[in-house]
Amino acid sequence: MLRNREIILGVTGGIAVYKSIFLCRELTQQGANVHVVMTKNAMEFVTPLTFQTISGNTVTHDLFELFHASQIGHVALADRAHALVVAPATANILGKVANGLADDFLSTMIMATRVPVLFAPAMNTVMWDSPAVQRNLRTLAEAGHHFVEPDEGELACGVHGRGKMASPEEIVEALETLFCPKDLTGERILVTAGPTVEPIDPVRFVSNHSSGKMGYAMARAAARRGADVVLVSGPTCLPPPRRARIVPVKTADQMCEAVLAEAAAATVVIKAAAVCDWRPAASAPEKIKKARGAGLTLALEANPDILRELGQRKRDGQLLVGFAAETTDLVTHARAKLREKNLDLIVANDVTAPGAGFHADTNAVRILGADGSEVGVPLATKDRVADRVLDCVVKIRKRSAVSSQRSA
Ligand code: CTP
Repeated sequence: MLRNREIILGVTGGIAVYKSIFLCRELTQQGANVHVVMTKNAMEFVTPLTFQTISGNTVTHDLFELFHASQIGHVALADRAHALVVAPATANILGKVANGLADDFLSTMIMATRVPVLFAPAMNTVMWDSPAVQRNLRTLAEAGHHFVEPDEGELACGVHGRGKMASPEEIVEALETLFCPKDLTGERILVTAGPTVEPIDPVRFVSNHSSGKMGYAMARAAARRGADVVLVSGPTCLPPPRRARIVPVKTADQMCEAVLAEAAAATVVIKAAAVCDWRPAASAPEKIKKARGAGLTLALEANPDILRELGQRKRDGQLLVGFAAETTDLVTHARAKLREKNLDLIVANDVTAPGAGFHADTNAVRILGADGSEVGVPLATKDRVADRVLDCVVKIRKRSAVSSQRSA
């Protein structure tokens, strides 16, 4: 998404500047050409040399710098960028831009550009909550500027509250959202992710190797493309996607209850979760004590097949997308699940293939359609795979829009 994009990174003077160094690195690693513009106060925290080394471009910080003999720097740079990110954005820069002030290179460039501007504010909680900052944020939003809101947490001043700059990953995600086609606007997409855990006693459980990475990538990609996303997630170690509503669950029973409730309003359901097929028939209320050297036989009983249930209840126009985790006969098994669970698409995943297992950041899949179609997605990041799955969803939507136009 960011490959070959020209990104201006405006850096203002706040302690969160150290995170902007990681942001700069993340952007360049994703293939963007980053031009850093620093305010005078930002240079009190870190030198231009740091950003210059990471971005590979000269850092700009002086209003009167000339790129070419005849061009004022800010106009040249502002004209050829694809987006401008201000991170950290202090209360001061928000106030200046909201009120039309342009008294340094960065504020002048923001005024002189027509490209999307994304602010990542960072400040003390009291400042963030102040009427002045909140008024300026509203003014900037009305002017069409974009934000990635600060997180809540321990601030540099020692106080706990809102004001911590979003993480570099969240800022990159917000930037990618700006460039993404919004072809899922109007869809309400329910995604499930992660494993379920089935308790044996208060300290032990039965589960599987799912990391949740594929489901979280699906939720992020759907939100980027304009969908309203609900993510029903089993326990994972992943940061929750900002633009999705999260419903945390633990057991298959809890997932079933949450999914059936949320599916009523969903136009698309994507079941990436690895639901445990069985659970201990009885979960002991106290820790089971071991008798020295003795084994333990667990009786397991079947969990509900949530996707099969959804397939039976499927409404007109609702799309069901399943995942098939297989170790043999990938396409045969996946096609059987597609048919038996009444799905529109199934993402067939050989979990033994190199780079395509549970904890990998990559995957390689075959996307099978109820119409007999088959799309191969070679090894790629889970984010990219998620986009290919959503491309198939969009394709089905377009096809049914055309056929309903024809029959009208
Ligand atoms: N699934 C589900 N509820 C279950 C088991 C699976 O909703 N109890 C969903 C998964 O989320 C996935 C699809 O069904 O989208 C296929 O899951 P998978 O584990 O590949 O297959 P199973 O249907 O469980 O069949 P098997 O274990 O025999 O391969």
